[in-house]
Amino acid sequence: MRIYFDHNATTPVAEEVADALARATRDLFGNASSVHAFGQQAKAAMDEARSAVAALLAAEASDVVFTSGGTEADNLAIRGAAEAREAAGRRHLIASAIEHEAVLNTLKAMARRGWRTTLLPVDAGGLVAPDALRGALADDTALVSVMHANNEIGTVQPIAELAALAHERGAIFHTDAVQSAGKIPVDVRALGVDLLSISAHKFYGPKGTGALWIRRGLRLVPQMTGGRHERNRRAGTENVPGLAAMGVAAAHAAAAQAADAARIGALRDRLEAGILARIAGTAVNGVRAPRVPNTTNVSFDRVEAESLLIALDLEGVAVSTGSACSSGALEPSHVLRAMGLSAHRTQNSIRFSLGSGNTEAEVDHVLDLLPRLVDKLRALTGNWERGIRNEELGMRNEE
Ligand SMILES: Cc1ncc(COP(=O)(O)O)c(C=O)c1O
Repeated sequence: MRIYFDHNATTPVAEEVADALARATRDLFGNASSVHAFGQQAKAAMDEARSAVAALLAAEASDVVFTSGGTEADNLAIRGAAEAREAAGRRHLIASAIEHEAVLNTLKAMARRGWRTTLLPVDAGGLVAPDALRGALADDTALVSVMHANNEIGTVQPIAELAALAHERGAIFHTDAVQSAGKIPVDVRALGVDLLSISAHKFYGPKGTGALWIRRGLRLVPQMTGGRHERNRRAGTENVPGLAAMGVAAAHAAAAQAADAARIGALRDRLEAGILARIAGTAVNGVRAPRVPNTTNVSFDRVEAESLLIALDLEGVAVSTGSACSSGALEPSHVLRAMGLSAHRTQNSIRFSLGSGNTEAEVDHVLDLLPRLVDKLRALTGNWERGIRNEELGMRNEE
């Protein structure tokens, strides 16, 4: 039995998405900028995909710019808006401390170029307090970037309230909705944002495709210079097959979101309640609500997360210790650290992120496995700790 509980890292490509990708790769080879029928056929497929992506965001198709994924969408939003506002003397950027590296490292790069940057703290539940943003905003703030849902703990931020605060001070508001699109409703107008990033591989679409929604009239400096693709907002021959497949994934995500959220949320709650009930010394990280329905992040006292991840992998169960980029690096999660968790708790946390293919039987199988694995690892840790203590005692005796 192989069980995939790592959907926040990436999702399996849905059957109909894989079919659309294969079909478009074979049949839609035309360049969407070409005037002839081959090109126009490719353009028509892209237009259809753009409409489907727009519908997922309750937006207009012409305001959607296709990118190579969430990372590029975040870069285009932040760098593009910042550079557009530089001449007006706005050289300050704000983001939350728990953003994905695509945002955090972009701010760092901008700081190296002389921009002032501020990272907003989060509370113990992982939420940004509106007062923290109010205090950080300045007359020269160009842009505020706060993610809709966090990839590690699933917490959903009060975006509409934060965006309104930013607007009061004339700042642009960007949200990284990579982890919320397809999991909870994402409506650009209800959120009140100016820029919103998504990535197809988080909602059963292909990797290397994403989009940035740009509020009409907002000027961005393009980050890719070249041809006049995407209405001069992102140069480069479009990945027609990938984008056609992203459109299919977006249409499916929009249609299935409510039912998936209810079903997957019930599985996540079952898993979470089961872990807390069966294993002593466990705690859920992040507020219980608002949270995307598929994610839970659990600390296992006296268990090193990497060891548990490997033990689960040997049993055919895929989980994560945090964001995919930092797993394997044994770096404590910047998200859990920002929430004020103690050093050891940041090292013993496991993220379970469920998806549409998961079943109750899989949850129950993991609930049967986990107590045994945790006991085993704790016994090893206990022996190791006792070993260290004995060694210390031994050394003292020798002195
Ligand atoms: C919150 C968030 N933002 C951005 C990204 C980057 O998206 P992509 O992998 O499409 O570049 C990810 C993916 O891990 C993410 O979880």
